[in-house]
This record gives sequence, structure tokens and C-alpha cells, in this order.
Amino acid sequence: SQEHAFYGTAEQAGIATPPQRYIMYMTFDMTSTNPRDLQVLLARWSSAIAQLMKGETLGQVEPIRDSGVGADTGEALDLGPASLTVTVGLGPRIFTDAFGLAKYKPALMRELVQLPSDNLKAELTGGDLSLQACADDPQVAYHAIRNLARIAKDTGAAETRWSVLGFGRASAGKGQSTPRNLFGFKDGTRNITEKDDIDKFVWIDDGGPAWQQRGSYQVVRKIMMRMENWDTDRVSDQNNIFGRHKVSGAPLSGTKEFDTPDFTKKDESGNLVIPATAHISLAAHENNNGIRILRRSYNFTDGLNNEGMLSAGLLFISYQKDPAHFETLQAKLGASDAMNEYISHVGSGIFFVPPAPKEGSYIGAEMF
Ligand code: HEM
Repeated sequence: SQEHAFYGTAEQAGIATPPQRYIMYMTFDMTSTNPRDLQVLLARWSSAIAQLMKGETLGQVEPIRDSGVGADTGEALDLGPASLTVTVGLGPRIFTDAFGLAKYKPALMRELVQLPSDNLKAELTGGDLSLQACADDPQVAYHAIRNLARIAKDTGAAETRWSVLGFGRASAGKGQSTPRNLFGFKDGTRNITEKDDIDKFVWIDDGGPAWQQRGSYQVVRKIMMRMENWDTDRVSDQNNIFGRHKVSGAPLSGTKEFDTPDFTKKDESGNLVIPATAHISLAAHENNNGIRILRRSYNFTDGLNNEGMLSAGLLFISYQKDPAHFETLQAKLGASDAMNEYISHVGSGIFFVPPAPKEGSYIGAEMF
């Protein structure tokens, strides 16, 4: 049961950290616009997260007094840290006059622009705060969010907005084998994993306020996948949709998973081997002025929808130093991706993720 540090690292854990197997993701709305309430919540969350990441309970599970309510709900007792990381994000409304915090707004913080693929539902979109809890045991991730939501309620500062419980990490970190998404394809083959690339594309280093450097922008999309339709599609067609082979993960222009895709290669009839509308052709940095993002997605299921169809998809999460990088890629994918017939973006969020606090301090302390 591995343990990650919350304090004292440059960046918050849960971004460059090799993806754990499960996620519990939740967003919150502030119910108070008093900055003191936000301050108290961020301070209480920070000390609680530090304890949770060590595998500790948040105080007594079984109070001494008969009349006492448990400080910790108890379901993670004896499960250890399970590689838990909890990553805190601050939504666009935090940096407005509503909270008197407009002057602390990170330079590129804003709502995402509307994108061609958007089918967003208000109840699955937005939020003033986000918590991304990842762990190798789903019960540990769930326990963390449950108890942090309890603290939010306790302070009277915030209430829950939307959440997703995800599994089967659909991205790979350094040294990890590539997992598969629910379409059955390897996902994460050409993610960024090298430190130099992460330094270049993920961490904010814009020379702005010191407390924002080594932070990042978190973009989250709840994407439904129409699996019954997908499952009736020929696999050769599925391969063309991604531009890769389903089993090996190799690009259609090559033979092995990590072969570099050749987007110019043509077959005897003069057609591109990787179609121009293939997902990887549209998203690859070679075709996007070098833009790269760090993907950290998870599969999820909500069970069945009210028509008895599988209700499931991808909780897409990306980290980048500029939200426009996500928008550039998604504007192209939303307009032309052959996959669009089978997916629908129903939820969305954007959050500034500050760097990690020093021991004794807390997330966002510099704003108060
Ligand atoms: C690559 C699946 C949504 C950006 C891939 C690959 C798969 C995949 C199977 C190939 C393996 C790899 O290199 O990781 C999916 C599915 C999605 C989805 C099932 C939705 C349900 C998105 C979105 C974006 C995105 C919303 C960004 C706006 C990328 C990028 C690559 C990629 C940048 C790497 C392309 C390359 O350099 O070759 N995706 N993806 N994907 N995807 Fe997605």
C-alpha cells in the first residue's frame, strides 16, 4: 500500500503521479461568498487530505462519549493509504468579485469556450471547487471524498454538485502498461510521461505570482459512450475510427504499439492508411502545432439509462498549462472525429490546481 506526500512537493500529487486504478471525482458549489468561509474550508480540507493520504482516519471512528458522532466514518479502517492522492481545484467563480478574490485570478483562468461537440447538462457541469481522489482501492477513494464532503457541509461553505466514480485507469504513466477504455482500445499509448514534456506542457511557469507557478489547469469532461452501437460495428471500422489496431494498439501505419504513427503513409489506392478523420490523426501533436496535454482519464458506469441501455463512458481529465490547448484539440475532434457517432460530451469543468502547500500551510493560503 504505497503512500504519496501531500505537503512539501512542488506540485500537487495526482497529476504527474502514475495513475492509480480508481477515481472518485466530485465538484462543489460555494453556498457562501464570504472569503473567510472558503479559507476555513481549504484549510480544513488540506489538513484532512494530508491525514487521508497517510492512511489515517480523520479523528475518532468510535467516540468515547455515548452521545458522540464519529469524526471519521470508518469504512477505510485497515485499508492503508492505497496510493491515495487527493487533488484540489479552484473553479472560475472563485476568482471573481463575488468573493473579493478577482485580483488573484491566474492569468489564463476562465470558463471554457463552447465547443462543437457540447451536449452539456447543467447538473453535470461546472463547480466552484473540485476534488480528484485517486487510489488503488475504490473504497479508499470513496471514503476520502465522503469525509471531505462531510467537512464541506460542516463548515456551511459548500455543497456537492456532481461526481463520478471511475475505474480501470484509462491512461498510463511512466513505466505503466497501457490500460483499455470501454471501447476496448488501449488508451494512453502516446500520453506524455517524460519529465521534460510534463515541465513543458503541464506546469504553469508564466512568471506570474509565485503561488501559481507549478500549478496547472484541470479540464474534466464526462463523455458518454454508446456501447451497444459500438459493439455492432465491424472491428476494421473501429480501427479506422481510432487509427490504431484494437488488440496490439499499433498505429495502422505500423506493427507495434509504440511505433510512431505515420500520418502521410498511403496504401496502393492512394488513400491515407490512418484516415484524416481518425481520432489520433486529429489529436496528435504533429498535426496541432506541437500542442500536447497530459491525459488522466478513467472509465465509469452509471448502470443503465431509462431505456435500459448501458450508461457508461470516459471521465476524461487533462492537465495543461493553458486551457486553450484542450480547446484547440477538442474543437477539431468535436467537428471531425469519426468517433462522434458513438460519444456525447455531457459534463464539463475547468479548475485551477495550485501547487502543493508547505507543511503547516494549506491550498490557496496566499489568497487570504
Ligand atoms: C489518443 C480514446 C477523447 C485527446 C487516444 C487513443 C485512444 C483514445 C484509444 C489512442 C491511444 C493513445 O495514444 O492514448 C479516446 C476516447 C475518448 C477520447 C474513447 C472519448 C470517449 C479525447 C479527448 C481529447 C483526446 C476529448 C482531447 C480533447 C487525445 C490525444 C491523443 C489521444 C491528444 C494522442 C494522439 C497521438 O498523439 O497519437 N484517445 N479519446 N481524446 N486522445 Fe483520445
